[in-house]
Amino acid sequence: MDINNKLFKDICDLSLAGITVSDPSKPDNPLIYVNPAFEKITGYSKEEAINKNCRYLQGNDEQSVEKEIINDALKNHKSCRVTLRNYRKDGTLFYNELLISPSFDENGNLKNFIGIQNDVTEIFEYKNKLEDKISKQLDVIRQRDLELYEFIKLKSAEELIENISHQWRQPLNMISMSASAIKTEKEFDVLNGEMLDNYIVNILDNTRYLSDLLNKFSDYTDISLNTLRDISINAEIDKALDILKGKLNNSNIEVKLELGEKNVVKKMKGDYINEIILELLSNAIEVLVDRKIDNPWIKISLSEKDDDIFIKLEDNAGGIKNQVDINDIFLPYSTTKHKALDVGLSLNYIYRVVKYKLNGLIEVHNTENGAQFTLKISKFNSMKDLKILYIEDDDLERNIFQNLLQKDIDTVVSFDNGFKALEEIKTNTEYDLLILDLKMPKMDGITFIKELKKLNISLPIIITSAYIDEDNIKELRKLDVNHHFSKPINYKRFLESMQEIMMVR
Ligand SMILES: Cc1cc2nc3c(=O)[nH]c(=O)nc-3n(C[C@H](O)[C@H](O)[C@H](O)COP(=O)(O)O)c2cc1C
Repeated sequence: MDINNKLFKDICDLSLAGITVSDPSKPDNPLIYVNPAFEKITGYSKEEAINKNCRYLQGNDEQSVEKEIINDALKNHKSCRVTLRNYRKDGTLFYNELLISPSFDENGNLKNFIGIQNDVTEIFEYKNKLEDKISKQLDVIRQRDLELYEFIKLKSAEELIENISHQWRQPLNMISMSASAIKTEKEFDVLNGEMLDNYIVNILDNTRYLSDLLNKFSDYTDISLNTLRDISINAEIDKALDILKGKLNNSNIEVKLELGEKNVVKKMKGDYINEIILELLSNAIEVLVDRKIDNPWIKISLSEKDDDIFIKLEDNAGGIKNQVDINDIFLPYSTTKHKALDVGLSLNYIYRVVKYKLNGLIEVHNTENGAQFTLKISKFNSMKDLKILYIEDDDLERNIFQNLLQKDIDTVVSFDNGFKALEEIKTNTEYDLLILDLKMPKMDGITFIKELKKLNISLPIIITSAYIDEDNIKELRKLDVNHHFSKPINYKRFLESMQEIMMVR
């Protein structure tokens, strides 16, 4: 095939991308033209490349998905774009980003296919290296997380066992003393009925106390990690104090409580609050004991403001010293003269639990007495890591609302029609929430939900629409739609209802 026009010839000759033309009217759709860049990229000369189909570039690699895309495009006279693993004449691998487009004659009949080849090996290798690096780093982080988790569990368990044994010793002594008194007095024949009754009552009282204690401790271990519960912060603080009662009494530490009258509640999973308070309290106790503080005390206060809960824990141990920035003690493996030195790991763990699990913040500062840790926890759970599928046909509206959502939520995938969204959700089922426009030209919201049901996919749904009538509402109810919003949407209320939906899941 000859190219006559000088400008076109220059374009083809000077292009850095490979340009190829095939003739589908000939058997096996062979190439009839290749430009110099194709020769350079593949290592095959024009004479070697033309008059044959260039699938030989793929070597023996199975690339069925990509080939199916190409064959579908060739069959239906459409364009396609795929990235293939290809081999040069010298056998080296390169990644070929291939674009194929059909060209038609003036009567609309298929004439040729035009292929553009881009060597994207560098980008691919870079991407592979990056993915490899990220996956290795993720492994390290996951491993470290696991270690931290084990560490804090171990610490809490140690604490628990220490306190159980402390609180068991006294009643056990009483039981054993009463029993040996019965034995000795009987041996010397001085045991009368009244004394025996006393001893037995004593034994029974103490066994009951031990049994209550056991029940109380088993409550602590009954942690349902995966269900959202109403957690009373006041009760969590009490629990932590109860566990550390022995230690606090032994060290003569006064606990000043300012918990207020009202029960402060947060809906959450797991037992994080208890763990955090236990850890901070243990920390404070250790510093107070280590520094041999006179009249040691720990003050815990609890308050609420707007949507936040504040827990403050202060001690009179003199504060955290020798830190450039005092909040550095939350960094992993931070070093500090504060007793936190020994538990650098757990302070970092606490920091991350507060941030990621409780949607909060932890800070520390020195008061005139000592260190004060402030926990600020949002009453709402974080929605950052939700995955949202958003379908809206109006481009402008979709872009604006998606940008708004992305300020609060990391993953918002949007589509302008239901068909594309269905394809997506069939292959990617990890969505947490669907936001759906009711009135769309290609597939309306209600049909979309029905299609989802046919596929047995169920996820919370929020409907948005400029106008919703009574019939729509009835229909949406039947389809278990969680909420509907009339446009223009009040974003704050929208976020709140997302919170609600996600919390009860
Ligand atoms: C114009 C044109 C250029 C092509 N360029 C390449 C290419 O550079 N590398 C490649 O592996 N396949 C290329 N192909 C695709 C193969 O020729 C072939 O169509 C594909 O492997 C699917 O067919 P098969 O399943 O029979 O192998 C090109 C196809 C056309 C029509």
